[in-house]
Amino acid sequence: MQSAALAATKSDAPEFPVPANTYAETVVSVTHYTDNLFSFRITRPAAFRFRSGEFVMIGLPNAQKPVFRAYSIASPAWDEEVEFYSIKVPDGPLTQHLQKIQPGDTVLMKQKSTGTLVLDALKPGKRLWLVATGTGFAPWASLLRDPETYEKFDEVVVTNTCRDAADLAYGNHLIASLHADPLIGELTAGRVKYIATTTREPSAHMGRITTLIENGELFRMVGCAPFDPEIDRVMICGSMAMLNDVKALIETHGLEEGSNAKPADFVVERAFVG
Ligand code: A2P
Repeated sequence: MQSAALAATKSDAPEFPVPANTYAETVVSVTHYTDNLFSFRITRPAAFRFRSGEFVMIGLPNAQKPVFRAYSIASPAWDEEVEFYSIKVPDGPLTQHLQKIQPGDTVLMKQKSTGTLVLDALKPGKRLWLVATGTGFAPWASLLRDPETYEKFDEVVVTNTCRDAADLAYGNHLIASLHADPLIGELTAGRVKYIATTTREPSAHMGRITTLIENGELFRMVGCAPFDPEIDRVMICGSMAMLNDVKALIETHGLEEGSNAKPADFVVERAFVG
């Protein structure tokens, strides 16, 4: 893991005009986990309000009409900076450039955030499941650091499934940092269960999340009964195929999909892909 951090000083003004309804913020730190994964933190505009788990459009000031992509906000609503977790796609319209950002550079962020992976979209329950593959872990990094998550749920189970062990690093670091966090360390103690699995590289725990749900291994690892609409609430974030497959499995347990307008038992959102 390579990190770069700098005091948050505004760099030179962007070379291109900032589009309407867009903030131009300064990169504070960048951390590279693998050749394909990195996270970064930017300054937070005083007026920017969001709910933990939402996403926002981000871009770079490198064109008259910059390319914007949806990114889950990985920091919690109370954080004074805004964090993102990203893949690096060699020819990705945004990420080919974004992966090169340095502290002091400018990142554009649209003023309005939105999304369904929010606590408000779920009915009250006892156990919250946060199920992610790949960069779908980002919204969990936000929700896991929000005290409201622990006010609403007794227990949180987080899953993180990637092809290779190195791809789990961001999630592993986040989970390890929870207990040391002065704000939520006490709240999280003994209440967060973390299930990290790989599907290609051999590791201690292997298997797609769908397989682990189907064969019951997930519930054995957590030490609980299978999904129960009376107890369990689920958020899912990953590729479209993963969302569809996990959703279908969850529905066989009688859980219903919710939204901001109609809170229910589970919510889904596609992870950023390119
Ligand atoms: P697998 O290695 O068996 O394809 P990706 O990088 O392609 O988005 O995949 C991230 C993780 O999600 C991988 O571990 C991958 O497993 C898993 N995955 C991909 N498709 C599905 C699916 N339909 N259901 C569950 N897990 C999936």
